[in-house]
Amino acid sequence: MSTEPLLSVEGVSYAYLERYRALEDVSFEVARGERLALLGANGCGKSTLLKILAGLIFPECGSYAAFGEQVSEEKLEDEQFSRGFRSRVGFVFQNADAQVFSPTAREEIAFGPLQLGLDRDEIEARIEDVLAMLEIEDLAERAPYQLSAGQKKRVAIASVLVMNPELLLFDEPTAGLDPRARHWLLELMVELGRAGKTIVFASHDLAELEWIADRCLVLSEDHRRLGDGAPAEILANRDLLLQANLVHGHTHRHGGLVHSHGHERGHH
Ligand SMILES: Nc1ncnc2c1ncn2[C@@H]1O[C@H](COP(=O)(O)OP(=O)(O)OP(=O)(O)O)[C@@H](O)[C@H]1O
Ligand SMILES: [Mg+2]
Repeated sequence: MSTEPLLSVEGVSYAYLERYRALEDVSFEVARGERLALLGANGCGKSTLLKILAGLIFPECGSYAAFGEQVSEEKLEDEQFSRGFRSRVGFVFQNADAQVFSPTAREEIAFGPLQLGLDRDEIEARIEDVLAMLEIEDLAERAPYQLSAGQKKRVAIASVLVMNPELLLFDEPTAGLDPRARHWLLELMVELGRAGKTIVFASHDLAELEWIADRCLVLSEDHRRLGDGAPAEILANRDLLLQANLVHGHTHRHGGLVHSHGHERGHH
């Protein structure tokens, strides 16, 4: 067994349109089979980091290696490298509208496996599996615009799981799901972890961290790595959570209604 990390991010910075800063000199490694949570306030850079890990955008400086190879724009122009990388990495976007574009849910889910060149029976079997798993059999023939937000999210998750990738990147996977689907997805993440999958996910829900994450990476509002450690350790570090704006320490008064905060923010 190699002890080489599955993912290695070194000194990565990124800005959109060369002016909207999103990541500043971020470094970390992810071991095979690890479940890493990305934490931080809105706009700190979690989605940007996931897009870099997915090879959708490329750092302006620093480097990113996955599965023992550098991932760069030039490398991904190579069809064989690109096919290998894309088949090993699954990404569920924060916004399912940006992900689900096929005429029907079934075609959306079939898209990846067809690209992989799997045979028809295998594809059919996999599709039936994930449709059942996500309880969306009834929605299979519907168009994305005929689905609710949570249903669309389930289709997006199904279209990633059907590929059975080694590395799963989830951007706020449980946001917008009803309690049952949410619980189911969290349990699935634990199971996928047990099955040896590597999972990196962005989350605002501190309450579920100890259940689904082995480790947390905290980004600051100035887009830097602020903390990195086991969930229990991060959650116990109140100064760190305050500094990252993941908790707030005072009581607000809104129109006579007193909300006693002091717990996590970020519920959408
Ligand atoms: N397409 C874009 N064009 C310009 N700036 C962007 C774009 N996408 C993100 N940004 C900026 O980059 C920074 C990081 O954004 P990112 O989406 O990575 O944050 P996030 O941590 O995922 O936030 P959230 O919790 O709200 O999802 C933010 O300041 C944001 O305004
Ligand atoms: Mg985001």
